[in-house]
Amino acid sequence: MLLNNKDFPMLAKTLPGLEEVLSREIKLLGGTEVEAVKRGVRFKGDLGFLYKSNLWLRTALRILVPISQFKVRNENELYKKVKAIAWEDIFRHSQTFLIDATVFSEKFTNSLFIAQKCKDAIVDRFREKSGLRPSVHTREPDIRINIHISRENVIISLDSSGESLHKRGYRSRVDRAPIGEVLAAGIISLTGWDKKTNLIDPMCGSGTFLIEAALMAYNIPPNVFRKNFCFRHWKNYDQDLFTLIFDKALEKEEAFSAKIIGYDKDEAVMRKARKNLRNALMQEQIEINQADFLNFDQDLPATGTLLFNPPYGIKIEANIPQLYQSIGNTLKRQFPGYTAWIFTSSQEGIKNIGLKPSKKIKLYNGKLECWLLRYDLYSGSRKGT
Ligand SMILES: C[S@@+](CC[C@H](N)C(=O)[O-])C[C@H]1O[C@@H](n2cnc3c(N)ncnc32)[C@H](O)[C@@H]1O
Repeated sequence: MLLNNKDFPMLAKTLPGLEEVLSREIKLLGGTEVEAVKRGVRFKGDLGFLYKSNLWLRTALRILVPISQFKVRNENELYKKVKAIAWEDIFRHSQTFLIDATVFSEKFTNSLFIAQKCKDAIVDRFREKSGLRPSVHTREPDIRINIHISRENVIISLDSSGESLHKRGYRSRVDRAPIGEVLAAGIISLTGWDKKTNLIDPMCGSGTFLIEAALMAYNIPPNVFRKNFCFRHWKNYDQDLFTLIFDKALEKEEAFSAKIIGYDKDEAVMRKARKNLRNALMQEQIEINQADFLNFDQDLPATGTLLFNPPYGIKIEANIPQLYQSIGNTLKRQFPGYTAWIFTSSQEGIKNIGLKPSKKIKLYNGKLECWLLRYDLYSGSRKGT
């Protein structure tokens, strides 16, 4: 089993388009041999670094630790190889587990059947060793095992995170079209916001951009509120080491003197955002007010970054051409001196903003292709409005 003072390989999974952001995060945190791959980043570190990664990485969805790698020609070979792993060194028969299988192979096509076969191998091994067996739990397993098959190549990994790391633990209330926390953190990083100047989300919904930005600005680990990580159920779990890393993380909080402000026109949405801010202990640090962006009359700092995802017209119905045209007009009229970033999937919307983006970054929100667009709003852009 993994020793806490020896480096071992890990794979942090992420969303498409965020691989480089995550690589930077891992390097800054102290990971070694960092290499971006499709939807993930490989790196090395010790057990303490695994705990740190789960606590600190803002753009990781989960962190896998490969424990065995081999080739197989059929399901029976797979069963034998999985059964040969000393699972009793990793977890106890009294714990629950779940297998996630992903299969890219002509030979093995049914990932459910693969998961079932591997489950049988693990259960049979426990039963033969001790007469007792762990059971499967699909919702909240103690242990998650990841099986990845590409052609005949199998990688068995322990999932150290469990529930996806975007579930930070602060968002109890979401609006109809919230943005995921990992995507929000990735977008903020991609904007290059310096974490020292004002940041405003004028369509803040449940407040995800605001909270993720505040966690970054104050240098607070994004998963500080999370109760559970699967590594805490492993036999080698080192509680003292985790406590040390957790306490050290809290000492890293930094001061932030600029403003993080959110607006939304919908009062019911604002109530949800307020609850989320309280959950994240950010109600003092983030200001939110009800306001219609299209008739914007709020007092604002003279400069800053605007970041928002307007309705795309998919989950929230809207007259998209009109809405985006009005957004463009408000940007030109009310925000000279600001840099605005808009995240949207609506090509029709983008066409109607009436401003030329100085940068376009392609990302995905779930399966939806989206764009993160930058608009530099100079005083001159008031012209024609
Ligand atoms: C896609 S959601 C934003 C989701 C948000 N980023 C989150 O994480 O929950 C769009 C939001 O824009 C708000 N909105 C739509 N039109 C608006 C307007 N004219 N002024 C202010 N907010 C508006 C909606 O109420 C909704 O909360």
